[in-house]
Amino acid sequence: MTLRDAAAKRGLLIGTCISAAALTEPDYVEVAGREFNQAEPENEMKFGVIHPRRDTNPNPYDFSGADAIVEFALQHNMKARGHCFVWHSQVGDWVTSTSHTPDELSKVLDSHIQTVASRYAGKVYAWDVVNEAFEEDGSLRHTVWYDEPGIGLAENGTAYIEQSFRWARQYDPSTALYYNDYSCDTINPKSDAVYEMVKDFKTRNVPIDGVGFQMHLHLDSNNPATLESIKQNLQRFADLDIDVQITEMDVALESPDEDSLAQQAEIYRAIFEICLGIPRVTAIQTWGFTDKHSWIPGFTKGQKGWALLLDEHYAVKPAYTRILETLQAS
Ligand code: XIL
Repeated sequence: MTLRDAAAKRGLLIGTCISAAALTEPDYVEVAGREFNQAEPENEMKFGVIHPRRDTNPNPYDFSGADAIVEFALQHNMKARGHCFVWHSQVGDWVTSTSHTPDELSKVLDSHIQTVASRYAGKVYAWDVVNEAFEEDGSLRHTVWYDEPGIGLAENGTAYIEQSFRWARQYDPSTALYYNDYSCDTINPKSDAVYEMVKDFKTRNVPIDGVGFQMHLHLDSNNPATLESIKQNLQRFADLDIDVQITEMDVALESPDEDSLAQQAEIYRAIFEICLGIPRVTAIQTWGFTDKHSWIPGFTKGQKGWALLLDEHYAVKPAYTRILETLQAS
């Protein structure tokens, strides 16, 4: 029994991000295709990677990495998920270091979404349209897209987010459209702000189909109050009549000792159990699957993290086993 077989029995998608560079490793390809039924490019669809040059350049886009991952997914009978059109990070220098008027910037983003959404229409079943637009205190993050200079709608708060969703729906009417963010897994000022935005969008028929919760956790999440708050939070979003997905789960450790690995497994189990209890949760995705390829060491400068389901030699960890048991028991 594999994770994807067990998840499929429950009608659940179980995903991982995929790095195009790692697809040259036979073990990586074998395990990803065997264990997961959803794949999402780790970096290859981000603005600066897929659209590295300005539109006046004869060759503004580079689809090679994204195409390879979508192809890999479809060959392995996996759903392909897109990430992401609008984000403050990994935007091409040609956007952030040159001055654009709001009108020019709006055309840049409109045309970017048109090109990328159209290319993957029919292949990518869901897109993170906007990623990480809020600060922890619930205010909007200052970014090139929002107000620096922004696409001309900053005075209206979430209007630039709304516009991005409308463009995405226009250019690929059949893909599901998600807002995605971190640190809004529990009920807190940030998740409150996202909640209010989604509620407003639903009331006014702005096309939004779901919210992605990144779920980058640590061992301190292993307490009943945090887990209960996550449960109530996911449930309140589901009650807005949208789908809920876990999009980037990992559980970072200080060291890979036996006790830490057991606690890590318990956190994964608890999150899976919460999700299995909420029918609107349609996918759970981890941000990679082997500790050999994880973003944590690069991000936390030197710490290894040991945050994923398999170790650096592709051996399964207790977290893998607990998830499989949880899916089978459900
Ligand atoms: C990370 C990638 O994993 C890294 O390889 C890259 O250097 C930086 O971005 N939230 C997101 C992801 O939405 O896109 C980020 O991915 C991790 C945090």
